[in-house]
Amino acid sequence: MTDAQTLNVDEARVEAFAGRLITDFAGASTTAMTVLGDRLGLFRAMTGAGPVTPAELAATTGLNQRLVTEWLRQLAVSGYVTVDGDRFTLPFEHALALSVVDSPAYVVAAGEIVTGFFLSLEHLEAAFRADGGLSGDEVPGCTYHGIERYFRTAYVNQLAQTWFPAVPGLVAKLKSGARVADVGCGHGFADLLIGRMWPRSSVTGFDVHEPSIATARARAIEAGSPANVSFHVADAAAIGGHGRFDVVVYFDALHDLGDPEAALTAAYDALAPGGVVVAVEPWSADDWTGTIGMPITRIGYASSTALCTPGSLAQPGAYGLGTLGGPSQRLELLAKAGFVDPALAADTGFNLVVTARKP
Ligand SMILES: C[S@@+](CC[C@H](N)C(=O)[O-])C[C@H]1O[C@@H](n2cnc3c(N)ncnc32)[C@H](O)[C@@H]1O
Repeated sequence: MTDAQTLNVDEARVEAFAGRLITDFAGASTTAMTVLGDRLGLFRAMTGAGPVTPAELAATTGLNQRLVTEWLRQLAVSGYVTVDGDRFTLPFEHALALSVVDSPAYVVAAGEIVTGFFLSLEHLEAAFRADGGLSGDEVPGCTYHGIERYFRTAYVNQLAQTWFPAVPGLVAKLKSGARVADVGCGHGFADLLIGRMWPRSSVTGFDVHEPSIATARARAIEAGSPANVSFHVADAAAIGGHGRFDVVVYFDALHDLGDPEAALTAAYDALAPGGVVVAVEPWSADDWTGTIGMPITRIGYASSTALCTPGSLAQPGAYGLGTLGGPSQRLELLAKAGFVDPALAADTGFNLVVTARKP
């Protein structure tokens, strides 16, 4: 009798799980190679180039041929590129996810966010052993840039097409000219987009992270310094003093706040009567156990553990809402702040759009 039989261990289950673990580590390994290819411009160079040899790819990118060869083989065994003899091809369908900016499938930047989990591990270990807080300064730069690039895809393909039309009266407000506050605006891509799409409206982006606001201001200059978009360093609970708003939005930011209740109260106070609050949150379900095994919740709970919840716990309020947790919790928060008609306006399977209005 083996020890495993003595302990009544299901050996097939052990084998299956060990295999599963190796499969996950293989995915993580390919993620590292994907981030490398993204940063080095390898995917861009392969896009539309047809079959290329490692030597050709190394020559067009100016990179080390020996390493480019190993990288191509790793991506070939991972099924990201195809191989025929000594030539490698990036299928266009794969390029849409890896290198064609603003394609609806362009999700490569999620790899930068995952990289940030690894780079934060030391700080996270300390946070787990202490008060759970991880300040914005302890988050690596690749996380912020990854968020900017990853969310850009959703803004370009969803904001005007799906999210805003789902909120009653919002698009009409923006068309005729509304004052919009974007709380937790990060690098400000959405604000510049809204300002461009609805030129009669004005957008004020707020974020507590100074380097993010500096980047947002630089992005505004690159975009020609639109007169209807501005950025300010401010905590979500302290957005007063910038005039009245007609719309307050939180794009993937409500759950990051140290004190979402205080923030929503500040939003309520800053809104004009009839004003609208909108929070776009990562997709999640009220019953999280129904989401077991879904890639989106696997990434979501990792983000929650490594980034969003410790970020919230590091702030005054230390609310720790969590990246996921379902729409009901969010709707309750809106109602608690005094808003009426809280509703789940859209569920795209990728995001939840919750909204309410000030009477
Ligand atoms: C996940 S990022 C989203 C950024 C941006 N909305 C986007 O979609 O690209 C969350 C943002 O919330 C900001 N944030 C966190 N706590 C905040 C607070 N208390 N007040 C204002 N901004 C805050 C962070 O600095 C970060 O830029």
